[in-house]
Amino acid sequence: MKIGTALTRSATRVMLLGAGELGKEVAIALQRYGVEVVAVDRYPNAPAQHVSHCAHVIDMMDGDDVKRLVEMEKPDIIVPELEAIATDALAEIERAGNVVVIPNARAVDLTMNREKIRRLAAEELGLPTSSYAFADSLESLRKVVSSVGYPCFVKPVMSSSGKGQFLLRSEADLEKAWEHTQSEGRVRDGKVIVEAKIEFDYEITLLTVRARNGRSGEETYFCEPIGHRQEFGDYVESWQPQPMSKTAQEEAKRIAKTITENLGGCGVFGVELFVKGDQVWFSEVSPRPHDTGMVTMITQEQSEFELHARAILGFPVSTRLRDPGASAVIYGQVEGEGLAFEGVDDALAVPETEIRLFGKPISYPRRRVGVALAAGRSVEEARERARTAAGLVKPVIG
Ligand SMILES: Nc1ncnc2c1ncn2[C@@H]1O[C@H](COP(=O)(O)OP(=O)(O)OP(=O)(O)O)[C@@H](O)[C@H]1O
Ligand SMILES: [Mg+2]
Repeated sequence: MKIGTALTRSATRVMLLGAGELGKEVAIALQRYGVEVVAVDRYPNAPAQHVSHCAHVIDMMDGDDVKRLVEMEKPDIIVPELEAIATDALAEIERAGNVVVIPNARAVDLTMNREKIRRLAAEELGLPTSSYAFADSLESLRKVVSSVGYPCFVKPVMSSSGKGQFLLRSEADLEKAWEHTQSEGRVRDGKVIVEAKIEFDYEITLLTVRARNGRSGEETYFCEPIGHRQEFGDYVESWQPQPMSKTAQEEAKRIAKTITENLGGCGVFGVELFVKGDQVWFSEVSPRPHDTGMVTMITQEQSEFELHARAILGFPVSTRLRDPGASAVIYGQVEGEGLAFEGVDDALAVPETEIRLFGKPISYPRRRVGVALAAGRSVEEARERARTAAGLVKPVIG
């Protein structure tokens, strides 16, 4: 394993496709090893671009644009950070053989499409999931809903962060549900998945790391389970470790290992699971650090970002938990450009607390613009601290 020096001929060059808050932390982790980081997003001054050697603004759904940029920048490694990417172009770049895609082009393609990843998990790998069906019109939705039953979620197969999701409780809402998925999904007239609603006790993200650790093949490592609370399909609060029965924990690991082994490659995966008693259902998986995993910046010796950077570079990893902790999201709350934050001093006076402000140039009320992190003797104490700290930070314009 050899690593170069940024901005010299020996540089190890990593291109982040997507330069949000998760990419920003990956960039910082890579920078610490002297890696040269190129951050790409669809708008200028995205969070990771603040801490990279070089920034580009392109439409990452445009395959030609992606290929052109890769040709120009000649990265050694491409790290996709978001779901909306021209995966055909990634596959082509990977086949050409000069660039490694993390974890690999197939995994990026499968996980950005709910139909592909669901069929792989449930039909090929036999993993437990909610019952589901697909539809591509209001008529076909009407037909398949009866096989899944109410209540159920209807989601565009191409969407993320809860966009276009509708919780369907009865036939009366069918039309509304269809319209909602079509107006907010990534493509109009797109396909939807209908998923039976699982009445879970709690949901977790099981961060799963595939790394070489100095050996030839990849090995699988698990972080302690992360519990989280979602509102409107977006996480508002997460904590680690989430207490689980031994049986449920073993089953969660089995599911996570099965799906990530099939996806392959190196790096962090966020495996989303629903849990009720000892029963565990696979929901979905991100082939990259997960937003709920921001909590690991305060709980683990190596955060999910450090783990991702190490796994990518072929370095050894440790998933050891240091302290129980929690994260709470700070929202933009106001609309406009040039957000300022009051109360950060008060927030940081809460014991064992840290604040991250992402540096997003534009704010709107539900935009995630920062996060409060807290450690504690227990998850309860940490959650209380993180919530308090997040509440003390007040975004204002100007
Ligand atoms: N079948 C289901 N049963 C119960 N709850 C569900 C189901 N599907 C989704 N949810 C709830 O909605 C949340 C968001 O769903 P999902 O993860 O599929 O959306 P997403 O758009 O991929 O969100 P993100 O990108 O933030 O992960 C889940 O974390 C869970 O709380
Ligand atoms: Mg999700």
